[in-house]
Amino acid sequence: MHDILEQLDKKRQLARLGGGQKRIDAQHKKGKLTARERLEVLLDEGTFEEWDMFVEHRCSDFGMQDNKIPGDGVVTGYGMINGRLVFVFSQDFTVFGGALSEAHAEKICKIMDQAMKVGAPVIGLNDSGGARIQEGVASLGGYADVFQRNVMASGVVPQISMIMGPSAGGAVYSPAMTDFIFMVKDSSYMFVTGPEVVKTVTHEEVTAEELGGAISHTTKSGVADLAFENDVEALLMLRRLYNYLPLNNREKAPVRQSGDPSGRLEHSLDTLVPDNPNKPYDMKELIVKTVDDGDFFELQPEYAKNILIGFARMDGQTVGIVANQPLVLAGCLDIKSSIKAARFVRFCDAFNIPVITFVDVPGFMPGTSQEYGGIIKHGAKLLYAYAECTVPKITVITRKAYGGAYDVMSSKHLRGDVNFAWPNAEIAVMGAKGAVEIIFREDKGDPAKLAAKEAEYKARFANPFVAGARGFIDDVIQPYETRKRICRSLVMLKDKKLENPWRKHGNIPL
Ligand code: COA
Repeated sequence: MHDILEQLDKKRQLARLGGGQKRIDAQHKKGKLTARERLEVLLDEGTFEEWDMFVEHRCSDFGMQDNKIPGDGVVTGYGMINGRLVFVFSQDFTVFGGALSEAHAEKICKIMDQAMKVGAPVIGLNDSGGARIQEGVASLGGYADVFQRNVMASGVVPQISMIMGPSAGGAVYSPAMTDFIFMVKDSSYMFVTGPEVVKTVTHEEVTAEELGGAISHTTKSGVADLAFENDVEALLMLRRLYNYLPLNNREKAPVRQSGDPSGRLEHSLDTLVPDNPNKPYDMKELIVKTVDDGDFFELQPEYAKNILIGFARMDGQTVGIVANQPLVLAGCLDIKSSIKAARFVRFCDAFNIPVITFVDVPGFMPGTSQEYGGIIKHGAKLLYAYAECTVPKITVITRKAYGGAYDVMSSKHLRGDVNFAWPNAEIAVMGAKGAVEIIFREDKGDPAKLAAKEAEYKARFANPFVAGARGFIDDVIQPYETRKRICRSLVMLKDKKLENPWRKHGNIPL
C-alpha cells in the first residue's frame, strides 16, 4: 500500500513539473508565470481541485509515443474566487508549447460540460502554440469541440478568456466567442495568421506585437477588453471582474453592500454640464460620482472612446453602465461604439444585470466612411440590443438626445423602465441651428431672422418638457439627486418580469 501511495505522489510530482525545469525557467525569463502559478493567483488559496492530471495524448506519429507528459499541456479543474465557484483551464506552454491535442481538448470540454451542468462560469488562461502539429486533424476536431461548447455556453454561464501567450490560427476562435478577453502586454498576442504569412500574402512587414498584441487589440480592433502590464495584475483584475458577475443566467449577481448611502446627494453634478451646448465635459465624472464608492470597472476604455461601458454597483447591486462620452467625437454614435455597446447590453441582458444608460448624444456620425462601413446595420445592433433587452433599464438624459440616436439610447419607446432627464436636456430631432437652417432655408440670406427662429426653436424644443408632456420622460430630475433616483428605481425594478415572444432566435443585423 505504501508503495502505491508513493507512486501516486511521484506521478503527481511529474505532472506538476510539466515540461521540466528548463522550460519553466524559460517561461519565467519571458516574464510569464507557469500554468499552475497563474491558477494560484487567480483562485482563492487552497481551493483548486484539479481534474485529469494523468491524461496523456494518444498520438503515435513523429515519435510522440515516446514523448508523453501527464496532463498533456493543460491544467483543468475548479476552484473559488472570493468564495464563488469557477471552472478553469490553464494551458501549460512548457508542455509541447501548450499546443492543443485531442486529449488536451477533451480535458477542456470536460470542465466546460461540468460548468454547464452546475451553472458556473468558465475562465480559460490561454498560452498555446495552437493545434498540436503532430496530431493533425484530430487536434482540429478538438478545437471544434471546444468552439461548439463555447456557443452552447454563451448566455448560459459567463465565459472569460485571458490571453497570456500565443493564440494563433484556430486558437483565437474560442476566446473570440467568450464574453470578455483580457490580454497581457508584450507577452501575449492573437492573430488568425502570423507575421510570416502576412508578409508572404500582403507584403506587409509587421511584428507579432503590432499585429496582435494587447495594445493593438484594445485600441485598434476592439477584440480584447483590457490590457495589463503582467500576469499578476491581469489575474487580480480578473478576480475583480468576477465579483460583478452572476454564476449563470438563472441567478442574479452577488450583492456587495458598501458604506455609500443610496440617498447620497452629489451637488457638484449641478455644474457638470457647461452652459454652452457645444462644450464637452467628461461623462466619466458623472458615472464615478453616481455609483457606489466611485468604483467603475470600465471595459474597452481605449477603444471607441465615444461610448463608455463597464460594471459598477448601485446600493450593492451590480449594474451595467453605458454612456455617451461628449469628450470624444462629441459623443456621436458610430460603427465601433455601436458594436461595443451592443455586445455589452446583450451580456447584461443575458445575465440579469440592470442597464443604466447616460445619454448625451448629438446623433449618428455622418460621412462616407461610416455609410460605406455599414453604420446602418451596425447602429441597428445597438437599437436591437436595447429593444430586446428585458432586464431593468434606467436612462438619464444629461444634455442632448437628438434624432434616431435618442430612440436608440434606451428610450421609453424601447421599453425603458425609468427615463429621467436633467433640466437642461434637449430632446429633439436635431440641434436648433441645424433644424432652423433646414426648415427656414429660404431665409438663408437673413441672419437676424434665422437667429430669431433659432431662439424660437430652442425655446420650443430644446428642453425635456416636450418629451415629458408625452410621458416619454418619467421625470425631470435635479442632477444632484441622480444617484438617489436611480437607486430607488432599482428597488422598484427588483422583481421586474418581462418576456419576449417565443422564437428560435432573433436575427440581429450582423
Ligand atoms: N504543436 C506542437 N508543438 C508545438 C507547437 C504546436 N503547434 N507550437 C509549439 N510547439 C512546441 C515547440 O516544438 C517547442 O518544443 P520544445 O520545447 O520541445 O522545443 C515548444 O512548443 C516551445 O515552442 P518554441 O517555438 O520554442 O517557442 P517560441 O516562444 O519561440 O514560439 C510559437 C512560440 C507559438 C510562435 C511557435 O512555437 C510556433 O510558431 N508554433 C507553431 C504555431 C502554429 O503554426 N500552430 C498551428 C496552427 S494553429
